[in-house]
Amino acid sequence: MSDLNLRARVAPADPVKLVPDPTTGTLTGSNGRYEKRLTDLEGLYRDEAAFFASLKDDDGAPVYWVESSEVEPGPGGLITGISVLEPGRVGAEYYMTRGHLHAEADRSEVYTCVHGHGVMLLETLDGRSEAVELRVGETVYVPGHWIHRSVNVGQERFATVFVYAADAGQDYEVIREAGGMRSLVVADGQGWTTVPNPDHVGYRG
Ligand SMILES: [Fe+2]
Repeated sequence: MSDLNLRARVAPADPVKLVPDPTTGTLTGSNGRYEKRLTDLEGLYRDEAAFFASLKDDDGAPVYWVESSEVEPGPGGLITGISVLEPGRVGAEYYMTRGHLHAEADRSEVYTCVHGHGVMLLETLDGRSEAVELRVGETVYVPGHWIHRSVNVGQERFATVFVYAADAGQDYEVIREAGGMRSLVVADGQGWTTVPNPDHVGYRG
């Protein structure tokens, strides 16, 4: 049987149109959502006193959420979605996502900023650390083998549209085991900067 015939036997999935609304942080056409509240994020921020103080004023609204679309779950498919982070800080640290390494570590990802002003914090297991600033219309390509986390360093919601391989998966433990990421994204009085995280003990591997 020719390659052409083999290909013809696969029933292609239907195309999907996705419409992000950066103001409301929604993605019309998506089929999945998760959200994280402050109470879900204990241990993420270094300043425990500031964290528990901010819980007192917490209204229970999500700090960040992701709406995503998975159409083809196999290795050839892509997951696309919107990631939305509210503005705010715990102590000196800006609101951020937990961050992860892809479980299939060589899978890459693309993020395009569609609202606000943020930073993609990127680190490798062998000690490289980079903070890529993103404003509306700007894209960062996150190569495989880079741990990545979004940080909102602006005054409004920071929203990105992302695309990554459907079989990538997420490993969140790699950051927790290391005592957090190597760098912290903090306010310095003028804006944002990165400082070394004193609790970081190095990544496994
Ligand atoms: Fe990712």
